[in-house]
Amino acid sequence: MNDKQIVGEKAVEFVKDGMVLGLGTGSTVQYTIQKLGELVKEGLNIKGIPTSIQTERLAKEVGIPITNFSEIQRIDLAIDGADEVNPNLELIKGGGGALLREKIIAKAAKKFIVVADPSKMVMKLGQFRLPVEVIQFGMEMTEKQIRELGLIPEIRLNETSPFVTDNGNFIFDCSIPDNVESEIIEQELNMIPGVVENGLFVGITDLVITLDQQKKVILLSK
Ligand code: 5RP
Repeated sequence: MNDKQIVGEKAVEFVKDGMVLGLGTGSTVQYTIQKLGELVKEGLNIKGIPTSIQTERLAKEVGIPITNFSEIQRIDLAIDGADEVNPNLELIKGGGGALLREKIIAKAAKKFIVVADPSKMVMKLGQFRLPVEVIQFGMEMTEKQIRELGLIPEIRLNETSPFVTDNGNFIFDCSIPDNVESEIIEQELNMIPGVVENGLFVGITDLVITLDQQKKVILLSK
């Protein structure tokens, strides 16, 4: 079993019968979703709200019933991966381009669990460039204002044309200068009119599932 599979599968231990689950996106949480599919076949009763079209496809393939915000009153638990996790359990997310739906679902959930192999654990966020989702209209102006905050944005490409999110938007991957407070940047970015959301997840995570140096599962909470 690889590291992603170990932490991804561990997360199912926090799932209880009857729960509504936020289903994250990426190559780590896919193991959670596959395992949940096995448990559903054995009789586990859950519903999932996917954070991306890709995850919706996988969840359907493995037999997890899908729901949406118009059908449910609550999300009991959301499980997702991350690109970076710092010791305060703050995250950079959005490497897979699903950050907007991921943040909506993580914030709506009563509990948010992150599955992260040890390569994701960092002392300081920012080695991984911060994804910022922007609407296509006026993106040149939006880019200029992101630069004015001190970040260095670069449009994400899908081969030669811009990568388009599930919401029809573009993404700027942004280098973060050393002297910038992540919490401040999270708020300031979202005040720029063309920015829809950014991949900084501050004060949302309840639990991180990762591995220690001996490859033993460890649970980190605040
Ligand atoms: C997608 C994400 C993913 O959770 C993040 O990129 C981690 O992905 P992986 O588990 O494939 O390393 O934020 O938008």
